[in-house]
Amino acid sequence: MKVLNFGSLNLDYVYTVDHILMGGETQTSTSMQIFPGGKGLNQSIALAKAGVEVYHAGQIGEDGQMLKDVCQENGVDARFVRPVSGRSGHTIIQVDKNAQNCILLYPGANRSISKEFMDEVLSFFDEGDILLLQNEINDLPYLIDQAYGKGMRVMLNPSPFDAYLDACDMSKISLFLMNEIEGWQLTGEKEPEQILAKAKEKFPHSDILLTLGGDGSVYQDNAGIYRQEIFPVKAVDTTAAGDTFTGYFISSIIDGMDPKEGLRMAAKAAAIAVSRPGAASSIPKKEEVLAS
Ligand code: RIB
Repeated sequence: MKVLNFGSLNLDYVYTVDHILMGGETQTSTSMQIFPGGKGLNQSIALAKAGVEVYHAGQIGEDGQMLKDVCQENGVDARFVRPVSGRSGHTIIQVDKNAQNCILLYPGANRSISKEFMDEVLSFFDEGDILLLQNEINDLPYLIDQAYGKGMRVMLNPSPFDAYLDACDMSKISLFLMNEIEGWQLTGEKEPEQILAKAKEKFPHSDILLTLGGDGSVYQDNAGIYRQEIFPVKAVDTTAAGDTFTGYFISSIIDGMDPKEGLRMAAKAAAIAVSRPGAASSIPKKEEVLAS
């Protein structure tokens, strides 16, 4: 079984600040680093580090060769990462003294992917393969319809949750992976139990993974509901913690692990990612996760 992750590749400009800026405020940052990122790229790297055969598809601009290199260096098959003219996607990320962040996203090359290119990539995949998506590229509804039509299992991290998702046929999603805010935006419910109940009602054929920040995570499938607490660490940068969780949890499904064990491994991997700076660079390898 192959995994295709059709998703974003971003250059993350990460600024260390005392506190997240308020409207109208100017603040001097104490450091700035450029990291490889993008929800798509991060999740591909998490999958590869967890031992999954993953193909990343997406677009980089003239400034983005480093993003393709990082994929390859980390074991992601990047043959479908296509260079185009113009700029890559990039973000401006503030990380405050409590390791909280806020992210401003410029989509760049991520949002000019043609349907012809999508078709070309999808033709390489078969029934039973997995398509993983986030909401940082264009034309998700098309990708969902085409992949579902050929019998692929479509998994969606609906992040960022915005109007671009409105046209997606969510009944074709086999697994939603999201935090509780996105869970609220998808279902209209705020409490985790209610989010799960409403999701089951609206999407009876979908499994749900909800990450709950400091309150851990919860997974619901046909057989039941499974909970996992966090592994407490000294947080340095929470960027990509959710992406790490996503990649590791999907790897546990592919490996046929019990959901409880899958949640535990994903929570450990995310805890390690939180204890390090950066996005993709903070994601641990499986040996490290299993040894922790
Ligand atoms: O989930 C974290 C990612 O979100 C960052 O790497 C940034 O690029 C944004 O896409």
